[in-house]
Amino acid sequence: VLRKLAVQDLAGQVVLVTAGPTREPYDPARFLSNRSSGKMGYALARTAFRRGAEVILVSGPTHLSPPAGVRLVQVSTARQMHEAVLTHYQEASVIVKAAAVSDFRSADEYREKIKKDQGAPVLRLEPNPDILLELGTLRDPRQQLLVGFAAESSNFEQEGRRKLAKKNLDLIAVNDIGSAHCGFETDANRLILIDNDGVTELPHTSKMRSADLLWDHIVGNGLLRER
Ligand code: CTP
Ligand code: CA
Repeated sequence: VLRKLAVQDLAGQVVLVTAGPTREPYDPARFLSNRSSGKMGYALARTAFRRGAEVILVSGPTHLSPPAGVRLVQVSTARQMHEAVLTHYQEASVIVKAAAVSDFRSADEYREKIKKDQGAPVLRLEPNPDILLELGTLRDPRQQLLVGFAAESSNFEQEGRRKLAKKNLDLIAVNDIGSAHCGFETDANRLILIDNDGVTELPHTSKMRSADLLWDHIVGNGLLRER
C-alpha cells in the first residue's frame, strides 16, 4: 500500500497521551467506570506518531488495538494511571490528558462477590487523585506543553476556561458530549480549543481528523517547546 508520508512536524517531540476510561472495582466481579471508548486518545497517539513524535500511550481498558509504533502502558484504575503518568511524564515534551479518569472510587473493595440475598450494599465513594491538576504543578512549563480535555454537556467555554486556569494548562480541548454524534463511543467529535489567546472551534468531524487538527493548532500557534 502506498501511503503519503505525513509532515514530520512533531519530529523530536516526546508525546505522552492518556486515553480511555478507568475502572474502579468494588468486588471481584464489578467496577465503576464511564462511557469513554479511548478512540480520541488513540487517534491522538496514532497521528502524533505519524507526524514524527515518539509516543507513550497510557491507556485504561479499551477494545482498541494498540497504534503501531507507540509505547503502550496499560492500566486499569485511576491510581494505576496516576502512577504510570508520574513514572513517564518527565520524558515528555507534550502531555495530552484525553483519558476519562473516574473522579471517584469505592472506599471499600469487597474480597468476595456481593450476593444479592444479603440486601443492596451501600457503596461509599472516595475521590481519586486529579492527575492533570497535579501535572499542572509538577511539569516544567518551559519544556513541557500541557494539554487537558474536558467532557461537557453545556457551558463549554465557561467550563473550559475554569479548568484551563484551575489546572494551570496551556490548552484545553472541550469535548461536546451532549449533542448527537459527538463524544463518547462515537467516531466523531466537536472540539473547542481554549487557551489564553482565545477560542478556536473545530468542525464536527472524525476523531482522527480532530486529532490532526489539534496537532495543527499546536504546531501552527508555536506552542511546541524547544527541544
Ligand atoms: N483528569 C485527571 N484526573 C482526574 C480527573 C480528571 O487527570 N481524577 C483530567 C482529565 O483527563 C481531563 C481533565 O482532567 O484532561 C478534565 O476532566 P473532566 O472530567 O472534564 O474535569 P474534572 O476536573 O474531573 O471536573 P468535572 O468532572 O467535575 O467536570
Ligand atoms: Ca471528571
